Amino acid sequence: MRIEIPREVERFGPIQIHDVQKVWELDAGLKYSELESKPKDRRVITRIAYESLQEVQEEMAIVVPIKDERIKLLEGVLSGIPHHCTVILVSNSQREPVDRFQIEKDALEHMNKFMKKDLFIVHQKDKAIAKACKDAGYECLLDDKGLVRSGKAEGMILSTILAYLCGKKYIGFIDSDNYFPGAVYEYVQEYSAALYSAKSNYSMVRIAWHSKPKVVESSLFFAKRGRASEHTNKILNSLVSSYTGYGTELIKTGNAGEHAMSMDLALNIDYSSGYSIEPYHYINVLERYGGIIESPSQDVMKKGIEFFQIESRNPHLHEVKGEEHVKSMSREAMEVIYRSPMCPDYLKEEILEDLYARGLLEEGAPMPETIRYYPALTKVDMVKFKKALKNEPYAEYLKADVRKFNYLNGNNGFIRDKVFTKAHLPDEHAKLEVK
Ligand code: GDD
Ligand code: MG
Repeated sequence: MRIEIPREVERFGPIQIHDVQKVWELDAGLKYSELESKPKDRRVITRIAYESLQEVQEEMAIVVPIKDERIKLLEGVLSGIPHHCTVILVSNSQREPVDRFQIEKDALEHMNKFMKKDLFIVHQKDKAIAKACKDAGYECLLDDKGLVRSGKAEGMILSTILAYLCGKKYIGFIDSDNYFPGAVYEYVQEYSAALYSAKSNYSMVRIAWHSKPKVVESSLFFAKRGRASEHTNKILNSLVSSYTGYGTELIKTGNAGEHAMSMDLALNIDYSSGYSIEPYHYINVLERYGGIIESPSQDVMKKGIEFFQIESRNPHLHEVKGEEHVKSMSREAMEVIYRSPMCPDYLKEEILEDLYARGLLEEGAPMPETIRYYPALTKVDMVKFKKALKNEPYAEYLKADVRKFNYLNGNNGFIRDKVFTKAHLPDEHAKLEVK
């Protein structure tokens, strides 16, 4: 892959948010070619050889969250994931009256006779998984029936634990409703390219789609950004500006469902529920590591965190889930920014005005409280989690030497338990009310 280096960077304490990078060649050849030895090539362009991408993929789990999607779509998605990744399907599909999970399992078994990938599937509501969460001290993921809560984020959190137990160094997410296997393949290559280039162990890469095709007046129109993203990005950028004092438009991936990160980072951030999980990555990293309050991890503070944003080449086409779905996703994204102790009052006002103007909230209504927060996975006792799953069919994949899990009892502070005070905020925010 040949990819331009990021032109701009936004710095926030030890956090670097790189500008969107453009991909010039999806495949730029093998490792030891003549091309690689030309130094002038490397000034503004990085060439990442195929073998280097493969090296990353051998240590990467790709998580595919699925809820009642068409099997044909899933088949396409799986065919696009590069072979060396381990694939974890986390399903919250219905079990009754039709057992869609069983259908997914059967289909997967059949496909894998041909694909021969390392892959397994779990159901989010599985009793064994719920027991593992309980035994490992992570009951917060369970609902009042004692099963893992519904939601895309909840499935992602669960599969992050499983990816850690597989001994993976990286984790990436790919939605199961993507129509283009070629786009899936490209996203994983881009995850690998960015994580390969990262200097810090604590890195994340987010995909900014090149375009999203739509039919407008019976012609194809390639829209640049999704409808929710525009608003989320604007508010996230305003939040960053309110601390740095400089206007910015650099964040373009506030809602990026397609993203990947190092396991070190994935274990050291808190999460939020449903579709607010992606914007909360930015918020939580700023809260935990932005240097505003004392951070729960000195190592992360020392090594720094890098965010990469890569503009993909394939158009992004997925299932249309309806107007209401987009609205509630956008509202959740806004709520998670609004609820941050870092969010200044004037921005809270702006968020509410934006929600009223778009008809996502009734004029004058307060921000509803719909979001749930989950502490970092350093709280999970991985030894107990693994033990609880030892008789499951996928136990053979959980081969990490968990005795080495040295985060436990270390940096497991939940950032929401900490108190932000006015003293933590810049002077111009002195009038802020911070809870
Ligand atoms: N395991 C699990 N559990 N999977 C779920 C659940 C759940 O409760 N709910 C949805 N999924 C799966 C879907 O089957 C799909 O593969 C994926 O999660 C994303 O859900 P969609 O419902 O298709 O979301 P979207 O396409 O509107 O939004 C996507 O793009 C946004 C950016 O524009 C998501 O990736 C969002 O998270 C992202 O912000
Ligand atoms: Mg979708």
